[in-house]
Amino acid sequence: MKVFNTVDGLREDLIKDRLKGHRIGFVPTMGNLHEGHLALLTQAKLTNDVVVCSIFVNALQFGLNEDWDKYPRTYQEDCEKLREAGCDYLFHPDDTEMYPNGLDTQSRVICPVMTDVLCGASRPGHFEGVTTVVSKLFNIVQPDQAIFGVKDYQQLAVIRRMVEDLCLPIDIVSAPIHREIDGLAMSSRNRYITDQERPKVVVLKNTLYWVAEQIKAGSRDFVELETAAVNRIHGAGFNVDYFTCSNSKTLELASYDDTDITVLGAIFTDAARLIDNVTISNL
Ligand code: PAJ
Repeated sequence: MKVFNTVDGLREDLIKDRLKGHRIGFVPTMGNLHEGHLALLTQAKLTNDVVVCSIFVNALQFGLNEDWDKYPRTYQEDCEKLREAGCDYLFHPDDTEMYPNGLDTQSRVICPVMTDVLCGASRPGHFEGVTTVVSKLFNIVQPDQAIFGVKDYQQLAVIRRMVEDLCLPIDIVSAPIHREIDGLAMSSRNRYITDQERPKVVVLKNTLYWVAEQIKAGSRDFVELETAAVNRIHGAGFNVDYFTCSNSKTLELASYDDTDITVLGAIFTDAARLIDNVTISNL
């Protein structure tokens, strides 16, 4: 695996790959890699000749009170894992390489409306930070394909929309949610869950799947389903940020005749905010 800290260095090699006709796959991350991230890489290797992974903890997508400074940085371990998983190029820029003019005056990419709801409602500016850094990374790598996890469903939907709206010639591929044995979606932030909370947090996944079953069975009273879901999660001792049945593409509230519905939830533990979702297709 070749490691690049600069845009120019990475581009020099990628130009050669393109001249050879290599198809380039890209997996952007913020590091602290777990099996979920590595599964994205494995998936990228299936259909690309060269796979680029990036590790960059993007300050632009963290709110002022969020965990940018304490976000786990495990660079050496990440490198080992990427090498073992067969990553070809790792792009690991620092803040000045990505934002040479500083954050305040950085040009931004904004995907309106669908970033105002769900995670966007409780994390103002977050998706603007994501779409800005992902479009910069896309311009740097110029991949044929980029892989994103369904775990961050709203992020995936927003990136798909950005690529469509800006006519970016990149195939956006989704990778399924990687879970712990009890069903908890893997996340770098799971380390903030306390031992007492750990056996109970699976209530989020179980409730999402319960709601999905009701919808599959014909229920369309989304408000009633959401209320029942919130009560169930409160019963396990957690506060709910949101629990919503949404149109899978637009993320607008689900309507009776939607054929693809995604149920999304976010709950607060003492020190973490956990998200998860499930999609019901071809209704
Ligand atoms: P990060 O949280 O590091 O996630 C990188 C990629 O891994 C994302 O596409 C995310 O959806 C995926 N991922 C995380 N946990 C997963 C799981 N349990 N199963 C499957 N995929 C999972 O998402 C980001 O970084 C950033 O916002 C980024 C896109 C890199 C922009 O800064």
